[in-house]
Amino acid sequence: MLPALPTLFLLSQFVQNMQVQETQLTSRDLRTCGINPDRWYVVARSTEVKDTPLAVTLWKQAIVLYRDTKGKVIALEDRCPHRQVHLSSGKVVKDSIECSYHGWQFDRQGECDRVPYLAPEQKRPTCKIRTFPARELDGFIWLFPGEGDPDAIAPLGVPEWEHLNYIATVSTIDCRGHYSFLIENLMDMYHGHLHDNYQAWASAKLDALEIGENRIDARYEAQSYYRIDRIWSISQLFFPALRRLHPEPLEVSYIYPHWVSTLGQDFKIYCLFCPVDETHTRAYLIHFTSLNAFWRLHKLPIKFRKFLKDRLFGSAQKLLDGLVRQDVDMIEQEQQSFLAFPRRHSYELNRTCIAVQRLILKMNNS
Ligand code: FES
Ligand SMILES: [Fe+2]
Repeated sequence: MLPALPTLFLLSQFVQNMQVQETQLTSRDLRTCGINPDRWYVVARSTEVKDTPLAVTLWKQAIVLYRDTKGKVIALEDRCPHRQVHLSSGKVVKDSIECSYHGWQFDRQGECDRVPYLAPEQKRPTCKIRTFPARELDGFIWLFPGEGDPDAIAPLGVPEWEHLNYIATVSTIDCRGHYSFLIENLMDMYHGHLHDNYQAWASAKLDALEIGENRIDARYEAQSYYRIDRIWSISQLFFPALRRLHPEPLEVSYIYPHWVSTLGQDFKIYCLFCPVDETHTRAYLIHFTSLNAFWRLHKLPIKFRKFLKDRLFGSAQKLLDGLVRQDVDMIEQEQQSFLAFPRRHSYELNRTCIAVQRLILKMNNS
């Protein structure tokens, strides 16, 4: 027997309410959710870490980085246990870091190894600060903030960084927004509209979506403006008149917690994440132009190829910085809107973004 119409109406209202509640709950959870700490994050470029302290923050954890006398990168909690001030205000003394306030020193293991005014009958305090596993790999400092086994998972790495056939450009993203807004921006290639004036890509259409345990791979059919098949074609990065639209596959992957993309054979881009807190994300965007089309290149002397790679470093800087500025503006507006109206409903038409949101929540709870 069919239920009476009023019953059907009440039932549909109930289902609708449940759906709205679920959306709101998911949105609130998503835009404030933490990171999975048992992963390798990128906290600095190699060149930023010297034998002076560098303060960084990874998901609310203040960390100080420095190089010891052998050049190895040390990562310690940025907190002097004496009076809780930042050790990064101090200086590096041989392999240790010295607090600027009373001069206590802490070694590479985070143990207090010197108090300058210790009386003969006094014992050195046994205070110890936390150390973090840190690795220097492919031009960046990777840090593992969790309590799990850092050897159980490898840092993503950037193999093109040292490869002589790839020309790199790096742009730093510093954005007042939750990291979920940034990764959605990077995975949703329908936003080429925003970058029309920079001619990054055009006419994206989602072609395939694969959802794995720790990653999401999306493939779009798109149009690229660039074709790097002659050495002079790199000048397309500077002169728009030289660009011609042609179809290319555009692939984007969220390999939690980082992002990798390829546009045809010519471009590869990474975004290496350092979420700072619920409303602040730092990241490094690394753009590679491939010279693989020049098959004779390997016949040239290594020294010359290295010279070429170094001279062309940063050749896409203007393009990359321009794209970042436009994206950051949108992401910060999304964040502000969420803070002002956390219960407001947003519409999502790209399956990729829904998959990304689910992965973020899953990784946060695992
Ligand atoms: S606060 Fe650091 S030595 Fe006193
Ligand atoms: Fe963008």
